[in-house]
Amino acid sequence: KDSTSDYIEVDELEKVPQSEQKKWEKDQMASAVFKFGAKDAVKKDEYELLLEDQIDFIQALQMPGIKDKMKREPELSEFEKKKLTIAETKKSLPIFPFRDDLIQAVREHQVLIIEGETGSGKTTQIPQYLHEAGFTENEKKIGCTQPRRVAAMSVAARVAQEMDVKLGNEVGYAIRFEDCTSERTVIKYMTDGTLHREFLSEPDLQSYSVMIIDEAHERTLHTDILFGLVKDIARFRPDLKLLISSATLDAQKFSEFFDEAPIFRIPGRRFPVDIYYTKAPEADYVDACVISVLQIHVTQPLGDVLVFLTGQDEIETCQELLQDRLRRLGSKVRELIILPVYANLPSDMQAKIFEATPRGARKVVLATNIAETSLTIDNIIYVIDPGFAKQNYFNSKTGMESLMVVPISKASANQRAGRAGRVAAGKCFRLYTAWSYKHELEENTVPEIQRINLGNAVLMLKALGINDLIHFDFLDPPPHETLVLALEQLYALGALNHHGELTRLGRRMAEFPVDPMMAKMLLAAEKYKCAEEIVSITAMLSVNGAIFYRPKDKIIHADTARKNFYHPGGDHLTLLNVYNQWRDTDYSLQWCYENFIQYRSMKRARDVREQLVGLMQRVEIEMVSSISETTDIRKAITAGYFYHIARLSKAGNYKTVKHNQTVTVHPNSSLFEELPRWVLYHELVFTSKEFMRQVIEIESKWLLEVAPHYYKPKELEDSTNKKLPKTVGRSERTD
Ligand code: CDP
Ligand code: MG
Repeated sequence: KDSTSDYIEVDELEKVPQSEQKKWEKDQMASAVFKFGAKDAVKKDEYELLLEDQIDFIQALQMPGIKDKMKREPELSEFEKKKLTIAETKKSLPIFPFRDDLIQAVREHQVLIIEGETGSGKTTQIPQYLHEAGFTENEKKIGCTQPRRVAAMSVAARVAQEMDVKLGNEVGYAIRFEDCTSERTVIKYMTDGTLHREFLSEPDLQSYSVMIIDEAHERTLHTDILFGLVKDIARFRPDLKLLISSATLDAQKFSEFFDEAPIFRIPGRRFPVDIYYTKAPEADYVDACVISVLQIHVTQPLGDVLVFLTGQDEIETCQELLQDRLRRLGSKVRELIILPVYANLPSDMQAKIFEATPRGARKVVLATNIAETSLTIDNIIYVIDPGFAKQNYFNSKTGMESLMVVPISKASANQRAGRAGRVAAGKCFRLYTAWSYKHELEENTVPEIQRINLGNAVLMLKALGINDLIHFDFLDPPPHETLVLALEQLYALGALNHHGELTRLGRRMAEFPVDPMMAKMLLAAEKYKCAEEIVSITAMLSVNGAIFYRPKDKIIHADTARKNFYHPGGDHLTLLNVYNQWRDTDYSLQWCYENFIQYRSMKRARDVREQLVGLMQRVEIEMVSSISETTDIRKAITAGYFYHIARLSKAGNYKTVKHNQTVTVHPNSSLFEELPRWVLYHELVFTSKEFMRQVIEIESKWLLEVAPHYYKPKELEDSTNKKLPKTVGRSERTD
């Protein structure tokens, strides 16, 4: 039975009289839950990916079956014709019938838990309803937190459009290093981290009448800490309304945490989604995604496709491969519009995702986890789920944090599948086996607070005057050893004294919206008189997106251009080189183009830099430029990152100093071929092994200078006296 071969469900929905509709939706929900909510309801359908040339073959033969399916287009155009005006769209959302009940409930209760299927209109509509109902009178704002930057920005843009105001006026957003709000702002979207910071300047959230902690189910570190903070505030501010909004079934847990706050449920609309698994595991899931997209494109009726990938790199690779394949297929296939979505996506590109697909064309959205619940893209009928996501993992035994691609949980897989069933019955293609789903995936994703480094969070809480962290009101407490480790780390950085109290240095560190090591590095620039350089380096490191790009057809040129920036001291200095040269061309676009540098990333670095300069002035650090060669700059970096040190071992690989973990210089590093004896890394990324990304060479004696309380001279003795022959290292690294 092929439930998506046509779109009868949509018509059915229209025919059902209003009174019947609710019951009908309920049944739909029940059947959807049966289909992929319950643990054992694994659909046994399996499929095989076609080989690439089979896709060509299908096209060449113009297989009759496919032709038939393609003929169904008129039905779809009915569906397309229904391009709704903004007012109609608002009324069509599942939350709309509950508008008045919701306002009433907010009036009656101080804290309310809101549960509703993704896409029901919680994020975009609730703030508007409350604004219309008068909650922004008396110069108060409605705040709404989002775990993700792109979501905060794009939702704010959407709401500004719905309210027909200019973004940044009545409706605005604030994310790290960017504040797009004004005195007129009454609805403010922000990241959870930004609200966490706002507590420093406004501990009682006095300027807000309503605070919505949205996407609560995502359980990011900041959201989890906000739970404790807002719960506390609510006691002192009986006039503050608190809404905790969640897409999934955690509502009960939230309710218990917030002293049995009532739960407001918005019944969702969900069409059945058929789930397919691959017969065998896929070796290369990016490749498998490309093939699946093409397979859907040539064999399935129209309807947009959503692909879940783990990050910008993968998305770009996938996009290139797809474009390449489509070029080769030429006019044999209909138009396929490829749209990427990831955290650093520039805002002009974000709007594109929400534009309606032109008639007769198909849209494929290549997204990170952001599309799992934070962003709803309409008209998705097909979901491709390789089953992976990128996550930060912190090993409290070694104190090492590393970014890894890990299998998602069942809860995530089900959320992803659900994205296919919002406007009509859909299909979800899982690029893993039914067996894997059943036996290998965890039930739920572990909340961030239980798996990442808490240094930043602890510093913020200390800065808020919360000293007793052990008894802080956590929804789920972090592991004791992680908490202790964070305290130790802050002590070693000099942010806390031996009573665990914030020092003057710690207070200054807390001014910066960056992690404690980075904050320490910025402050160390004062002593080493190199604030200009350190600020540029920090900005470049914070951009997150790729600085260099490597178009497939110009790899050699791109690599040569990149090597021209290499600095023998290491990658931080290479980044500084790039920034300084760009600045010297007066921030030229042409220059970026010629040097294979991402202009967008550079522009962002410039913005971030500007913000950092402002913060440096706030902590009264003079912006001076280093007069020595790079030693002072590297010492300042070491003053912040002395935890991240590795030394070359006899075998030609690197071992971290404190825990003797094997780590490797990332092939993209300018030090990949150099193998200095002592290196400092900015971060670890785990793919095939632990790679150190952004590496500089340091001298071991600096460690005694910048962290005498952490390193003992004995630990830093060299085990070898001579520099190792380079070939040893190389052969090691080619495996
Ligand atoms: O928060 P929830 O998942 O309940 O829904 P929402 O984000 O408020 O989405 C409601 C509707 O707004 C969906 O149909 C989205 O596609 C649409 N939307 C949009 O068109 N543009 C955005 N930037 C965000 C949402
Ligand atoms: Mg939402």
